[in-house]
Amino acid sequence: MSIAIRPLGNQFAAEVTGLDLSGAIDAAGIAAIWRAIDDFCVLVFRDQSLSDRQLHDFAARFGPLEIGRAAARPGRRRLSIPQIGDISNLDEDNRVRDLFDRRRLDSLGNRLWHTDASYMPVPVVLGMLHAVALPPPSPFGNGETEFADMRAAYDALPDATKAAINDLVVEHDVFWSRALVGFTDFPQAEKDQYPPSPQRLVRTHPGSKRKTLYLSAHGSHVVGWPVADGRLLLLDLSAHATRERFVYRHEWRVGDLVIWDNRCTMHRGRPHDETKARDLRRATTLDQGSTLSEAA
Ligand code: OGA
Ligand code: MN
Repeated sequence: MSIAIRPLGNQFAAEVTGLDLSGAIDAAGIAAIWRAIDDFCVLVFRDQSLSDRQLHDFAARFGPLEIGRAAARPGRRRLSIPQIGDISNLDEDNRVRDLFDRRRLDSLGNRLWHTDASYMPVPVVLGMLHAVALPPPSPFGNGETEFADMRAAYDALPDATKAAINDLVVEHDVFWSRALVGFTDFPQAEKDQYPPSPQRLVRTHPGSKRKTLYLSAHGSHVVGWPVADGRLLLLDLSAHATRERFVYRHEWRVGDLVIWDNRCTMHRGRPHDETKARDLRRATTLDQGSTLSEAA
């Protein structure tokens, strides 16, 4: 079967068919996926069934894999491969976490528009989420994931704004995004392990050569500006960048694998029935250097 790519919605995400991601994919297949990522930023593969090992091995074809903040913590974990992120509401024994569970509260930061790991000095590139179990519909939402196109959002800015923000550097701090959802209860050792990182606000995507806004809920303020001014600018830009015309909303089915490029998107999770299991597994590839060493 040959690969087919069908744009979805406002043409910024695409559905890819004709590949079984659990099997052997040749170099031409990986190159075709990279090209599609450079074109679309978000790719949807339906009806996949990958073990954690298979997800790990597929993702590793695209670069070295991140070990996320939760997996880096000491103690027992539900999933055995540290490079597979546990994007679920389940505890180590596969029970739905209590509403006041610390891990759950920490993960609620994912409901804010963000790009992953922008608080790390060398941030990440591709996120890959695989749906294993999904909750039933609820009055507050069905646990969809929304993605916003930071290239289109950049393009739509007035030229004067583009020029004024071109060289700005933003400080990104995971404890800032967590404070935004009211969660501040972190051990000092974890705070010491994840200090804030500076990142360029405007980046050029190396694949598409298009400029993008590198925004995230982790972005706290503009370096060298009064905190309030920078924070207000980031709020304005984020409101602009997440308008409906820039957004693709993914309604999950079990077996979906969604790949997004963190360099040209923001994303957020939506609410869902918290009494039922939602189990997604994530692999994430690392970038090679700081955004500060890129030219805008
Ligand atoms: C993530 C994330 C949102 C969701 O896995 O990086 O932000 O819908 N997930 O679970
Ligand atoms: Mn995320």
